[in-house]
Amino acid sequence: MPIAGIYGPDDFANRPQGPIINQVTASSRTAPARRGPTLPAPALDWTPEVERATAPLYERVKHVIPPIEWPLMAPTIKAINELKRERGAVILAHNYQAPEIFHCVADIGGDSLQLAVEATKVKANIIVQCGVHFMAETSKLLNPDKTVLIPDSRAGCSLAASITSADVRLLREKFPGVPVVAYVNTSAEVKAEVDICCTSSNAVQVVESLNAPSVIFLPDRYLATYVASKTDVKIIAWKGACEVHERFKGEELRALREADPSVQIIAHPECPPDVLAEADFTGSTAHMINWVREKRPQRLVMITECSMADNVRAELPDVEMLRPCNLCPYMKRITLANILDSLLTLREEVTIDPALAERARRSVERMINLKN
Ligand code: 13P
Ligand code: SF4
Repeated sequence: MPIAGIYGPDDFANRPQGPIINQVTASSRTAPARRGPTLPAPALDWTPEVERATAPLYERVKHVIPPIEWPLMAPTIKAINELKRERGAVILAHNYQAPEIFHCVADIGGDSLQLAVEATKVKANIIVQCGVHFMAETSKLLNPDKTVLIPDSRAGCSLAASITSADVRLLREKFPGVPVVAYVNTSAEVKAEVDICCTSSNAVQVVESLNAPSVIFLPDRYLATYVASKTDVKIIAWKGACEVHERFKGEELRALREADPSVQIIAHPECPPDVLAEADFTGSTAHMINWVREKRPQRLVMITECSMADNVRAELPDVEMLRPCNLCPYMKRITLANILDSLLTLREEVTIDPALAERARRSVERMINLKN
């Protein structure tokens, strides 16, 4: 059914003034880590030894990284992998990270849900989060005693930036007794105000798990619209959007299909409804990857972030990827150079006020503990 209502900052006369939200809020900051000394920078020369040591890694990405570029990356990749061992660190990477990160330095890759679940199992004392800030916050919430580093604390998210904890309180005042579901693409402050989190992998399941006739679902208006189309629960939405996915247009997909009716189109549910209407499959980044592994289409359009198409092509070179795709400028803030720097200096460390973290952790854990 269509969403029952959609609210935004302009709908509340008593909303506190000021910028919508800063990515790094008062209660969750990044700061130089206190544990461990800065290590000396390693030499980053392209030598026969580097070439030999990184050859198996190049095999993984040879279909998406030209041989001429490898000597520029390989020395840093080798240094990161050595430092990881020295520091006892683990690298978690989202599916939108560039192939040289996703396939060559990450220990664990996945969508937001997989990364959150994997974060609960980490044994290492240091987690380097290659993704955006809310993902690093989620890892910190689930590992309060570990050091969680994000190589560039400016790696934000337009969805997380669209709503404040005060907005959630105003929504609760307007709809007393209606439970609140927050997409994980939110700050820890917002997570602390809600009943449960969800990701695009489990949004419908989470909404239905509440056994309520109406649910406030925030902050992504398009994911909310998609969820509403799959459930009888009345969905009250917030006006946030992903600046990467909202740029896609249904008409560009229709043109692609007209040019080649055999092309398969798969899309992330953060896209607008006219885009999803053209898709053969809609799902989270992990669900999209599994769909490609299973169906092995000859020609494919992935309506999502560009690096994911590269990561899939690295694994399945027989699948021809057609553009369009869009780059997420926040995900692209994470680079080999700043991952190396993060391991050398143990910066930037994500810290969250413990009282706030306890409340935010409850909504993440409630999601993780949902039975499939
Ligand atoms: P997934 O949970 O599907 O990986 O999505 C995260 C995200 O930020 C998509 O833009
Ligand atoms: Fe946020 Fe969109 Fe980037 Fe995902 S792709 S991190 S939702 S801005």
